[in-house]
Amino acid sequence: MGRSQVLYEEAKKYIPGGTQLLSKRPEMFLPDLWPAYYDHARGCQVTDLDGNDYYDTCFMGIGANILGYCDTDVDKAVVKSIQKGNMCTLNAPEEVELAKLLIDIHPWADMVRYTKTGGEALSVAVRIVRAYTEKEIVLVCGYHGWHDWYLAANLEKGDPLSYVHLSGLEPKGVPAGLADTNYIFNYNNIKRFRELMKKYKGKIAAVVMEPVRNIMPEEGFLEEIRNSTKEEGIILLFDEVSSGFRLCCGGAHLVLGIEPDIITLGKAMSNGYPMGAIVGKRDIMQAAQETFISSTYWTERIGLVAAIETIKKYKKNHVEKRLDEIGRGVYKFMLEAAKEYDVKLEISGIRPLLHYEFVYDKPLLYKTFFTQEMLKRGFLASTAFYASYAHTNSIINRYADAVKEVFALIRNMGDKEPQLDGPICHTGFQRLT
Ligand SMILES: Cc1ncc(COP(=O)(O)O)c(C=O)c1O
Repeated sequence: MGRSQVLYEEAKKYIPGGTQLLSKRPEMFLPDLWPAYYDHARGCQVTDLDGNDYYDTCFMGIGANILGYCDTDVDKAVVKSIQKGNMCTLNAPEEVELAKLLIDIHPWADMVRYTKTGGEALSVAVRIVRAYTEKEIVLVCGYHGWHDWYLAANLEKGDPLSYVHLSGLEPKGVPAGLADTNYIFNYNNIKRFRELMKKYKGKIAAVVMEPVRNIMPEEGFLEEIRNSTKEEGIILLFDEVSSGFRLCCGGAHLVLGIEPDIITLGKAMSNGYPMGAIVGKRDIMQAAQETFISSTYWTERIGLVAAIETIKKYKKNHVEKRLDEIGRGVYKFMLEAAKEYDVKLEISGIRPLLHYEFVYDKPLLYKTFFTQEMLKRGFLASTAFYASYAHTNSIINRYADAVKEVFALIRNMGDKEPQLDGPICHTGFQRLT
């Protein structure tokens, strides 16, 4: 056992669930063997507590580090802001600068509010649209954070959130009174969307969804949602916390050509520094003045400065072009390698956020084996590849070589099952012991 594994065992004594984010639990990757903690990270290289070096070829800060870890330009701006004082009784002028930048990128929008996390941005946005419409029901597609408004979907029997995100997201502690305040529909399932629109006609405040993520929209899907929400006076809220800054500088809807009424941003916008934003049309955003939405650290300067610098660098370097190039390259060689080595693999997702699926009777066994063998070859790898500006061609080539070696192991096993050095990885949410 390395220091990381020992520390993680200790963590579970002091921190319920071991860590603050389900997606950072070692159990989600390689139980007992995943290097749970890092000492330092730069570009896409990560060094764990035992001094082992890895290339991050999976989540890159869970989607936050679009420019890479420790980006020199962003960090320089952040350090400068720290030296000038990152917190004060007065407001940081960068609030206005960032608002103008975000409105410039999203010309349909007029006003901006800030948070520090994506989930918070969603909570604020949902509060605003409920206040504006004076209606309660939201139709929801996809994952949007941990807050009560969202988890309330699972107050209904049958684990509805398992259809759009993960299984077992327990709504314990969410007031039963929030039942029937949101309803779930699947991406591209226009039939279910139509049914919900009909059933709750006149009571719907908003439709909350990612414009795109794991699959591309079927022809007419987003257009119908846009048109029917407009007709009924329902707000269309695009959650761009993960999809934002992948296909272009700003929300993916700019590329898809669908204009929402309000969006949420987070993650990649500030390259690893906490920042979230709600960007919307003036009349809707002004409803934020009729309900109490306020928090001390939402006014803090580092996130603002990091976002401004990230966006400037992103624009200057046309980062989206590089992300597309990397994503397309990885997509192509993964498909080719799977074919060459007879590995049953499906790949989905927009190119900068690829998701793989091992199509076997025991997919988790293959997923765990892949992570285990890639780790031995110096890669933090899973069934996802989030492209970052820091992924150089030579790192991608090394990733491709390692993938081929692991796929060759799978092929050579024939009908035998992969052998794991530890337990199988978890899927979904579960209690840890
Ligand atoms: C689409 C989407 N919305 C909201 C969130 C929640 O953001 P955060 O984890 O910053 O609270 C996430 C996080 O993965 C996300 O992908």
